[in-house]
Amino acid sequence: MIYKKIKEDILYAGMNDKDRLIFDELIPLDNGTSYNSYIIKGSEKTAVVDSMYPKFTSEYINSFDENKITNIDYIIANHGEQDHSGSIPALLEKFPNAIVVTNQVCANNLKEMLLISEDKIKIIKNDDELSLGNKTLKFIISPGVHWPDTMFTYLKEDNIIFTGDFLGAHYIFDDVFAVPSKELEKSAKKYFAEIMMPFSGVCRKYTAQIKTLNPEMVLPSHGPIHKDPSYILNLYEDWTSEKGKNLVLLPYVSMYNSTGEMIDYLSQKLEQKGIPSIKYDMVDGNLGDLAIALVDGTTIVMGTSMVLAGAHPVSVNIAYLASILRPKAKVASFIGSYGWGGNLFGKLSELLAPLKLDIIEPILVKGKAKKEDYLKIDKMAEEIYNKHKDLGLI
Ligand code: FEO
Repeated sequence: MIYKKIKEDILYAGMNDKDRLIFDELIPLDNGTSYNSYIIKGSEKTAVVDSMYPKFTSEYINSFDENKITNIDYIIANHGEQDHSGSIPALLEKFPNAIVVTNQVCANNLKEMLLISEDKIKIIKNDDELSLGNKTLKFIISPGVHWPDTMFTYLKEDNIIFTGDFLGAHYIFDDVFAVPSKELEKSAKKYFAEIMMPFSGVCRKYTAQIKTLNPEMVLPSHGPIHKDPSYILNLYEDWTSEKGKNLVLLPYVSMYNSTGEMIDYLSQKLEQKGIPSIKYDMVDGNLGDLAIALVDGTTIVMGTSMVLAGAHPVSVNIAYLASILRPKAKVASFIGSYGWGGNLFGKLSELLAPLKLDIIEPILVKGKAKKEDYLKIDKMAEEIYNKHKDLGLI
């Protein structure tokens, strides 16, 4: 456990989980993650904001005695997901007079997921305040970043805001304060792509709201505390903007490299036109890298081999992932090669349909691409160029 004084009577009480390699059993972690809990000591009452991932409950609960925290009056639940709420039952056992404070939606989750009884929960509404004596907590209900139950807790006198998952990162540290770096930005962006990007519009709204509030610090429930909130808020402003970058994503799977050769050729043609592209090997690639690229890409061209009369299952998986992450891409197409026949692009088109992408005529080749197929790829590159130009990206 790390205990660190953040400001007078405000403590960080969190944990680095450096051994965690994957989150949500989906996206690999480069830097582990941290679970952040905070203790606020008012002149009359003491509150904890968010608790701990269940795996570390014992260590977390024991740390209160070790750090001479003898009483907790309020347990503020900014979010019901178990990596932050999982230790609340143990906290209630240790501090039987404590009351959980949260919004109605989160309360419902805590009752269902952790069997916390109703009489232990105080429901608050947007803008409600809770006095700790000389410190006042104000609650900002913020549904959709990233569950319907999420909210922020603003500590008025100190002008600092506890944002739950929002503005966080899967990142570990020796010190708890953010030091801007490429690694931190990458971790925060990957984290955004996985859990916040599907709700980009909502994230944009709360980014602006927190900017207006102009807090002295942003204290998320994963990753470092931001003493310079503009660092993470400016990144979120960019990532949540509706306009993508002049960038084409080329996720591909190729069994005999026929599709791979066409993807390489398209990448070269795009480069000649001043359009950067990112090739992503759907078999050997790191899903986190693809997720990050999806935050910026305007066009997606998927390359796939055919397996048993349909798209390669790996490409189906990636099309599904892209559809649920809801990136800002506007344009798409497909390139692929088959051996004996079938429907190569049907399933992929169906999966990507909810994104309402502008689809460029796909290119389907039997075996290796011939001269006429390369001419079609030239045409595809030209169409992408024109669409990026129309979108004001070139
Ligand atoms: Fe870190 Fe949505 O929990």
